[in-house]
Amino acid sequence: MTFETTFPDGFLWGAATASYQIEGAVAEDGRSPSIWDTYCAEPGKVLGGESGEVACDHYHRVPEDVALMKELGLEAYRFSVAWPRVIPTGTGAINQAGIDFYSRLVDTLLDNGIRPFVTLYHWDLPQVLGDKGGWLNRDIKDWFAEYTGAVVGALGDRVKNWTTLNEPWCSSLLSYSLGHHAPGHTDPVEGLVSAHHLMLAHGTAVPVIRENCADAEVSITLNPTQVYGPDNPTDADLDAVRRADNVLNGIFFGPLFHGAYPQSLLDDTAHLTDHAYIQDGDLAVINAPLDNLGVNNYFPTRVRHSEGAVHPLPGGDNVEETEPHPPLTDMGWEISPQGHHDILVRSSQESGLPIYITENGSAWPDVIETGPKGEAVHDPDRTAYLHGHLDAAKQAIDDGADIRGYFAWSLMDNFEWAFGYSKRFGIIHVDYDTQKRTIKDSGREYARIIAAHQA
Ligand code: FCB
Repeated sequence: MTFETTFPDGFLWGAATASYQIEGAVAEDGRSPSIWDTYCAEPGKVLGGESGEVACDHYHRVPEDVALMKELGLEAYRFSVAWPRVIPTGTGAINQAGIDFYSRLVDTLLDNGIRPFVTLYHWDLPQVLGDKGGWLNRDIKDWFAEYTGAVVGALGDRVKNWTTLNEPWCSSLLSYSLGHHAPGHTDPVEGLVSAHHLMLAHGTAVPVIRENCADAEVSITLNPTQVYGPDNPTDADLDAVRRADNVLNGIFFGPLFHGAYPQSLLDDTAHLTDHAYIQDGDLAVINAPLDNLGVNNYFPTRVRHSEGAVHPLPGGDNVEETEPHPPLTDMGWEISPQGHHDILVRSSQESGLPIYITENGSAWPDVIETGPKGEAVHDPDRTAYLHGHLDAAKQAIDDGADIRGYFAWSLMDNFEWAFGYSKRFGIIHVDYDTQKRTIKDSGREYARIIAAHQA
């Protein structure tokens, strides 16, 4: 298969990871437990009882891992900082050893000509703050601003690209209403409250980033998903699409980019809460100007009307999620370049901002094969997914979206949250027994695409 798509000059090619998914070393150099360490230890929460205790041992393998990035020709690397390494007590004293780890990583990247994109929060909240209510406690806006100041103050002389939060939808609704992620609560109102506090923390942190880094490019990464109804939808189906879209997309697009929640989301949840958690002045804080938007997208969402259906997401009454359309990845996620295109165009229109695709990729049941040239992973499905989604991104650019770069998820196989190590998303294979890394065929193809654009 050939891949001819050409991206604009200056389009940035990268790969992404997250702290808890790759670092390991959970008890080293002063790191305190995060809510994910706690959640993993609860029986039945994570497949196989696995955890990020060792993960890819990246904490001890930065030179080797950056050398692999260089071999792939990556121009940028998106990683996250673990709050429990930097401020183990959540607020208060900075742990210099934690800062030093990220400082060495940044220096190694820059020495290799790779631009760091730093995410401040990719879900590993210090457990000490979880004990105070986590994202349900409004004070978290100040805790997060303090932590942000510590990190940006230390790295802001070298790092320009700052992202406050990764996928606040997951750290709110998925974690507090659907119970699939730490802390595993199942309360519809908690999802709304935590989403609001996440955005408030984001908006409070934006000026802190700018104060500590004069030429910062400040961002947030969302995971919007295109919502489709059935073919030939009834009016009731269209209402189901609207409700789903509100609680998946509008709940963040509204406050962040329009200074208001969608009124219909407030109306649809009025029987659950009086929304007193939204206080005067909050929306102005949340609506802080940004320099770009990060979009993580893997699959679209399909719904239809179903009278009386009870959905655990707030405002989801009478909404039924329908089966994804094949083909599916190993996660059971629908492969839809069209959905990727549509949500990129929508995100561009909603935000009015340049966009980086900060995550996109697919899991497959890879096998490592030993051949005459050594070990290899032949993963044509991942390569096809990559081609399809890059084509869709290019189409979105042609349709007016200002897309500035693409980060493959993920640089390497890693701890896939509730699925443990059972799902492999990497363009580099990791053998968890030996920690040996092997670039997959898809990684070689990604390197070829990058090189072709640099030529
Ligand atoms: C995203 C997460 C990332 C990874 C991918 C597969 O929702 O941001 O950490 O787990 O999904």
